[in-house]
Amino acid sequence: MNILVLGASQGLGLALAEQLSQDHEICGVARSKSEASFFNHELIFDFTKAKVSELLEQIQDFKPDIIVYSAGGGPYGRYSDKEFKDHLWAYKLNFLFPAELIHSLGVQKYQGSIYCVGSQIAEDFDPLGPSYSASKAALKKLVYNLNDDIFWKQKLFMYSPGYMNTDLLPKNSQVRIDPKVSIACPVDVAKDFKQWVLSSDTQKPYFRNYPS
Ligand SMILES: NC(=O)c1ccc[n+]([C@@H]2O[C@H](COP(=O)([O-])OP(=O)(O)OC[C@H]3O[C@@H](n4cnc5c(N)ncnc54)[C@H](OP(=O)(O)O)[C@@H]3O)[C@@H](O)[C@H]2O)c1
Repeated sequence: MNILVLGASQGLGLALAEQLSQDHEICGVARSKSEASFFNHELIFDFTKAKVSELLEQIQDFKPDIIVYSAGGGPYGRYSDKEFKDHLWAYKLNFLFPAELIHSLGVQKYQGSIYCVGSQIAEDFDPLGPSYSASKAALKKLVYNLNDDIFWKQKLFMYSPGYMNTDLLPKNSQVRIDPKVSIACPVDVAKDFKQWVLSSDTQKPYFRNYPS
């Protein structure tokens, strides 16, 4: 199969791309290239600046059977201590871009499936990442609602991990020093995610948490 991983240059996206590359063709997209040898193609693209139509044009020859949207991020700290443009960046990256991508692919009657990466903790409550949390919750709600849409049933999914040891988790985050909090290795998460993505279960729930 051809698998497109959006947000593939590092962290979970990179680990997942490596796992999937064992049996599939992988095209990775991010603001930078990882230069990892397991990619069949790597494209540079900024989801907060470029248009969905430009991405779809660039990948039209690749024809992905599966698309994973793993890009994510947002400002860390009190809401009003940050400029609104920083929150807007988070809204675009975590919600507006994937929301438009899903819409455009629906218009094109895309026959493959899409997996969005959420955040088990932030979707629920994240006072120091309010715009990140709000946009992850909005994406989860969109995926949930489309689960009832005949076109998207069994084609649109959400995978929500807990904390992972990647650059996205701030170095000064309290959870990094809290012994009660477990922080997963992205490779372990990627192995679980891969198994779920490739599962032949035609009745699988639209949503999966890690740890489940
Ligand atoms: N780490 C955690 O604790 C945690 C917990 C729960 C959920 N998550 C979610 O898991 C997913 C992966 O996160 P991660 O921890 O692996 O983060 P990460 O290590 O920071 O990787 C994020 C990836 O997204 C890409 N990206 C970020 N902004 C982009 C933009 N504007 N345009 C294009 N690509 C962009 C990055 O590429 P560049 O580096 O090239 O910009 C990178 O490849 C995210 O959706 C995140 O919200 C993370």
